[in-house]
Amino acid sequence: MTTGSQTLPRVEAHLSPRRHILDLDDFTRDEIESLLDAAEAMREVLDRDIKKVPSLRGKVVITMFLEPSTRTRVSFEQAGKMLSADVINISGSGSSAEKGESLLNTALTLQAMRADLLVVRSPQSGAPYFLASNLDSMGVVNAGDGMHAHPTQALLDLMTMRRHLGSIEGAKVVIIGDVLHSRVARSDIHGLATVGAQVVLSGPPTMIPLEMLRGDVRHTPANVTVEPDLDRAIEGADVVMALRIQKERAAAGLLPSMREYTRRWMVSEARLAKAKPNALVMHPGPMNEGVEIASSIAHSPRAQIEEQVTNGVAMRMAVLYQSLAGQHGGDL
Ligand code: CP
Repeated sequence: MTTGSQTLPRVEAHLSPRRHILDLDDFTRDEIESLLDAAEAMREVLDRDIKKVPSLRGKVVITMFLEPSTRTRVSFEQAGKMLSADVINISGSGSSAEKGESLLNTALTLQAMRADLLVVRSPQSGAPYFLASNLDSMGVVNAGDGMHAHPTQALLDLMTMRRHLGSIEGAKVVIIGDVLHSRVARSDIHGLATVGAQVVLSGPPTMIPLEMLRGDVRHTPANVTVEPDLDRAIEGADVVMALRIQKERAAAGLLPSMREYTRRWMVSEARLAKAKPNALVMHPGPMNEGVEIASSIAHSPRAQIEEQVTNGVAMRMAVLYQSLAGQHGGDL
């Protein structure tokens, strides 16, 4: 660990400029790899005793979370502050959204204050795209929109895998649970398919997107397959990723029952024994322990769940840097 060093790391990779980061579906493999490299440099800053560099001094970042969040909201704030940006947090409650101001008018107001970047989480799929197409100077980063996308979660997941596996290409990654309603799964699938992983989706057939269940090649990347039987899906896996089950889905008739779900799709010690001996266990959080993941697994040495959170700060530093200063490259 470096303690208070004035020596700053260098972002060797040239991050191509991107004012808006909305999902990974339009990222090339090189762009993803460059962000992973930049996040590694940021991780070095994060591991220092004095966690501060001047890279984004004078920039204003606003986080606007219209849904609950712990990991994403705090890590974006921490990331911005570590890069010396001024970070202002707003939420639905306490802002003029409560008086009926539209999302676009709220964003235009923040842009008029000369904010440089808006990090937004919204329950509405597509809201960050709508804002990005209507703002002319303020960038937009999607921190999770409805059931659609959560690109920075996918990037931090890729970072965590690459740190442990060396290369993600060809790795077998099993994503388990409610893929249909998961913005994390959707972005992970885009990112993993782009970097060449073999993705296997497992869960109740009612929770797998129909086009993927049917193997519709127009909507399913070649390296993504479906295996509803988790005992078969998990065989030889390099990465086992459980998704959070939203309990209200059982009430909506998409799950036989929570007990049945746990019996067939919980990541348990017995199931994990079928994966590779050093397989990584991941979960985006927050977890329902004893439902989608056994507590003994969630807190075992194989679980990377807390490391995902740590890498989330580094990745969000890289994303802020790319949006606000990435075109320059060079020293942090
Ligand atoms: N993974 C994730 O998005 O967690 P939060 O809802 O706590 O931000």
